[in-house]
Amino acid sequence: MEKSKYIYGNWKMNGLLGHVELAKAVEAGTIEIGAQNVEVGICPPFTLLKTIKDGINSIVVGAQDCHFTESGAHTGDISAIMLKEIGVGAVILGHSERRTNHFETSDLVAKKAIFAQQSGLKTIVCVGESLQEREAGNAETVVLKQIIESALPELEAAKLIIAYEPVWAIGTGKVASNDDIREMHLSIRNKLIEIFGDSGKDIPIQYGGSVNAKNASEILAIENVNGALVGGASLKAPDFLEIIKAAATL
Ligand code: 13P
Repeated sequence: MEKSKYIYGNWKMNGLLGHVELAKAVEAGTIEIGAQNVEVGICPPFTLLKTIKDGINSIVVGAQDCHFTESGAHTGDISAIMLKEIGVGAVILGHSERRTNHFETSDLVAKKAIFAQQSGLKTIVCVGESLQEREAGNAETVVLKQIIESALPELEAAKLIIAYEPVWAIGTGKVASNDDIREMHLSIRNKLIEIFGDSGKDIPIQYGGSVNAKNASEILAIENVNGALVGGASLKAPDFLEIIKAAATL
C-alpha cells in the first residue's frame, strides 16, 4: 500500500542500550496497529543504530546527521555510506538544534542531503523559524529561504521529506495554531512544486514541535501535513504508538 503519512521519532541525544527495547516495542506496536499507510521511522543516536537495525525489519531506522563526503580527515563525523552499510534508511538533516548548536547553514545542509541521497538514504530536511522571526512577521520568508537553499533541485523528490519545525514549538509544549500550520505547509508545498515541478506535490511535509498522543489527530488532519517528526513523545512507546495510530486512521 502506498504510504500517505510519515511518522518519525527523533530520539535526539537520548538512548542507552536499554532503549533497544523501545525500538522493538515500536515495531511490534506498529505491526499490531496494521498501519499500512504509515511509514514509521525511529532515529536513535549513532551508537544504537546498528544494534537496533539488527533487530528490526519493518520500520525505518534513521540517523540524526551525517557528513557531506564519503570518508577522510573529519574527526567525529559519520559518513552517509557508513550509515547505509549498517542498514540505516534515512537521515535527519538541518535540525534546528544542529543549525544552532553546530552552526549548520542551509548550504551545508544541501551538500549533506545531496551526498546522503547519492548514498541511498532518504533525507529529512528540517526547516523552521525562531520565535523572534515569527513575532517580526518573517516566519514564511525565513522558512522559504531555508527551503530554497537546502532543498535544491538536484535532490531526488522521491527521497526527500521536509520537516517544518517552528523552533519555539520544539520541546516547549507549545504547538503552532492549526491556521499557522496550514498556511506554512501550503507555502512550503507551493515552493516545492516551484522547485521540483509535479513531483513536488508528492514530497511529504511533516510537522514537528510538541506533537503528542493528544494533539496528533488534529495536526495530522491539516491539509498538506503528511506526517510528524516527534521528539519527546517518541521516547515513550505508548505515546508514539498513539501518534502512529492517529496517522493510520486518517
Ligand atoms: P518535541 O516533539 O520534543 O517538541 O521535538 C520536536 C523535534 O525537534 C523533532 O525533531
